Order: sequence, then structure tokens, then C-alpha cells
Amino acid sequence: MTVHFIGAGPGAPDLLTLRGRDLIAASPVCLYAGSLIPEAVLAHCPPGCRIVNTAPMDLDAIMAEIAAAHQAGEDVARLHSGDLSVWSAMGEQLRRLREAGIPYSVTPGVPSFAAAAAALGVELTLPGLAQSVVLTRTPGRASAMPEGENLTAFAATGATLAIHLSIHRLEETAAELIPHYGADCPVAVVWRATWPDQRLVRGTLATIATEVGDSMERTALILVGPALGQEGFIDSSLYSTDYDRRFRAGRADAVKVKP
Ligand SMILES: C[S@@+](CC[C@H](N)C(=O)[O-])C[C@H]1O[C@@H](n2cnc3c(N)ncnc32)[C@H](O)[C@@H]1O
Repeated sequence: MTVHFIGAGPGAPDLLTLRGRDLIAASPVCLYAGSLIPEAVLAHCPPGCRIVNTAPMDLDAIMAEIAAAHQAGEDVARLHSGDLSVWSAMGEQLRRLREAGIPYSVTPGVPSFAAAAAALGVELTLPGLAQSVVLTRTPGRASAMPEGENLTAFAATGATLAIHLSIHRLEETAAELIPHYGADCPVAVVWRATWPDQRLVRGTLATIATEVGDSMERTALILVGPALGQEGFIDSSLYSTDYDRRFRAGRADAVKVKP
């Protein structure tokens, strides 16, 4: 018996890895974080699967579900939205599983920042504009930020910011960033990326709060930085004619026909 932690992606049921989909289909128990995972993803569960929404449960109750499956020798698919490496609460569950001697595996998923960038059709690292992406959030009721991890510090780098869990603080967030990026800096807000009702709003740090208004809550990502404008950048050296040939395979091998 194994507990399979699976990154369930941003929402669309076909944005799971093949491994994740196959593990869900093979597990007789599925625990999922219901506030961020749409029902459509659960269609991958096998018939007769025990499907438990963990949104209203505390950690002890979740562990009790897993312990019962362990007793019964049944694999568990444990789904969290996006990828598991950020804001998934996987760490504390793995710690409990290690203490209990229950085996687990971890399968990554498509993170929401990547899904949001895809929805906008943008590259977040453009030569000469930004070569780093900061995945961050603002403080919440239950989660203080460690000292030093604040928007001002990240903004000082000029990197592209992907600000999670903060749509309710959009106005303050934009105001805090203007001194660093300038009022005209492009911003995009993506609500429910890849869900059927996905919404995109583009603006600048000066306009975005007005443009979004109170039309979005909870599942939205704020992307900020000059790369969002997709203008004023140079070509990368990757496909440049001057690029050192040592790093390029011969043209003769570049095209193959699958037998
Ligand atoms: C608890 S965190 C989970 C992050 C997730 N583990 C990931 O890899 O993106 C929830 C936050 O992620 C962002 N988020 C998650 N899914 C999203 C989606 N489909 N569209 C936009 N933002 C999303 C929002 O900022 C939301 O408040």
C-alpha cells in the first residue's frame, strides 16, 4: 500500500501527467483538496473509488482516512492543486507518514503560475527584461511571511513576480510595487486558469485594481514585471547564428521520421 501524492494541475482534467492520471485510475481511495480541484479531475478515479473531499477536514482526520486505507491495504491517490512543491501542505502530511511508517510517492503537477502564463501566451523570462521568476504570496490570516520575504525585497530585483493567494489584496499589492517597477509596469491577473470559466485581465500597476474591481476572488494569480509586456526584449542566443556550434547537433540529425 502506498499513498500517492499527485499534483492535480491547475484545474483542467487533461492537464495531469500521464503518471498522475494512471495512479489515480489505479487507486481505490482518493483524497482531494476540494476547494481548488474541480469535480472533472475526479473522473479519472476508478468505479467504486472512495472519494473524500479533505477541504473541511483537519490533519488528524486526513491521517485517519489514510490509516484506514493502510489497514485495508488500499492505495490512496492524494490530490493537491497545481504542483506539490508550493503551498500544498504536503510537507506536514509526509512527516506524519514517515512517523507512521506508511510508504508514499510524489508525482509533480502543472503549477498554476505556468498555467496562467500559458493562458496569457507569455514567456516570463525574456532576455534583457527578466531572467528570474519569484513565486511568492502576501501574508494571510493563518500564514505570516518569514522576515526578509516581502514584496519590497523581491521587487528590488526587478524579477517577474507570480503572486499567489493575494487577489483580495490586489490594491495594496500594486501600490507597494509601484515605487520599484513604476506605475506603467504591465500586470496580468488570471482567475481560474484552465477552468471552463477562466478569466484574464491585463493592465498596469496603476490600473489593475480598478480593472479587476471585485470581479475575482480566491483562485487567482497576479503576475507582475516588464516581461508581461512582451516588448523591448532582445532575441535569446539559443537560436542565434553566432551561437557556439559546439552546443548544436549537426543539421543532418535534426529531422527524423518515426519508423
Ligand atoms: C494553496 S495555493 C496552491 C498552489 C498550487 N500548489 C500551485 O502549484 O499553483 C492556491 C493559490 O494558487 C493560485 N492558483 C491555484 N490554481 C489556480 C488557477 N487555476 N488559476 C489561477 N490561480 C491559481 C491562486 O493564487 C491560489 O490562491
